[in-house]
Amino acid sequence: MSNQNKPLIVGVSGASGLIYAVRLLKFLLDAEYWIELVASKSTYTVWQAEQNIRMPAEPERQEQFWREQAGVPLAGKLHCHTWSNVGASIASGSFRTLGMVIIPCSMSTVSKLAVGLSSDLLERAADVQIKEGRKLVIVPRETPFSLIHLRNLTTLAEVGVRVVPAIPAWYHQPQTIEDLVDFVVARALDQLDIDCIPIQRWQGHG
Ligand SMILES: Cc1cc2nc3c(=O)[nH]c(=O)nc-3n(C[C@H](O)[C@H](O)[C@H](O)COP(=O)(O)O)c2cc1C
Repeated sequence: MSNQNKPLIVGVSGASGLIYAVRLLKFLLDAEYWIELVASKSTYTVWQAEQNIRMPAEPERQEQFWREQAGVPLAGKLHCHTWSNVGASIASGSFRTLGMVIIPCSMSTVSKLAVGLSSDLLERAADVQIKEGRKLVIVPRETPFSLIHLRNLTTLAEVGVRVVPAIPAWYHQPQTIEDLVDFVVARALDQLDIDCIPIQRWQGHG
C-alpha cells in the first residue's frame, strides 16, 4: 500500500492507441498505485473503432471495465470519473496528486490545453496540474504533425508539460506489440519518476 498516499490522475483521450492506457494501468495497479481515471467522451468512439467494445459510462462499471482490460482484478486503487463531471475531486487544485498523465493524447486535447480551455473534466484536471505547477505528462499520437500541432505542443512544453510522443525505440529488440507499447509507457512514467515496468534499458556499449 506504499504507493497509495496520493493519486496519479490518468487521462485517456480520443486518440488512437487505447492499448497505451491499458498497459499503463496494468503496471500501475499491479504496483499498488492509486489511480483517478478520466476518459474523454471521444474515448467511447475509439473503443468501438479499435476493439468493437462499448465502454460503460457509469463510474463503477467503468472501473470494472478498465480492470478487465488491464487484467488486474483487485490490486491498487482505481476510481473512474464521468467525462463531463467538472465538479469532481480532480477538478480542484486542493485535491493533491502525484501529477497526471494523458495517454494517448489527441491533438484536440493538446490544442485545448495550450489555450487553457477546460471544457470537460480531463481538460480541467490537466489545466489544474499546470496551474499548480505539478507534473503533467502527455503522450500525443498523431502523424504527421501539422505546424498547428507543433506550435501547441511547444506552448505546452514551454510551461513545463513533458511531451512523450508515442514513438517506440527498436534497440531493445521488441518481439511483441506489448514490448513496443510498454517502452513508450515506461518512458512516460520515467517523467514522473515512477519505475514499475521491466523494460530493457540501453546500458551502453563497453
Ligand atoms: C478511430 C479514431 C481514431 C482517432 N485517432 C486519433 C489520433 O490518433 N490522434 C488524434 O489527435 N485524434 C484522433 N482521433 C480524433 C479524436 O478522437 C477527435 O479529435 C476528438 O474530438 C478528440 O476529443 P478528445 O481530445 O476530447 O478526446 C481519432 C478518432 C477516431 C474515431
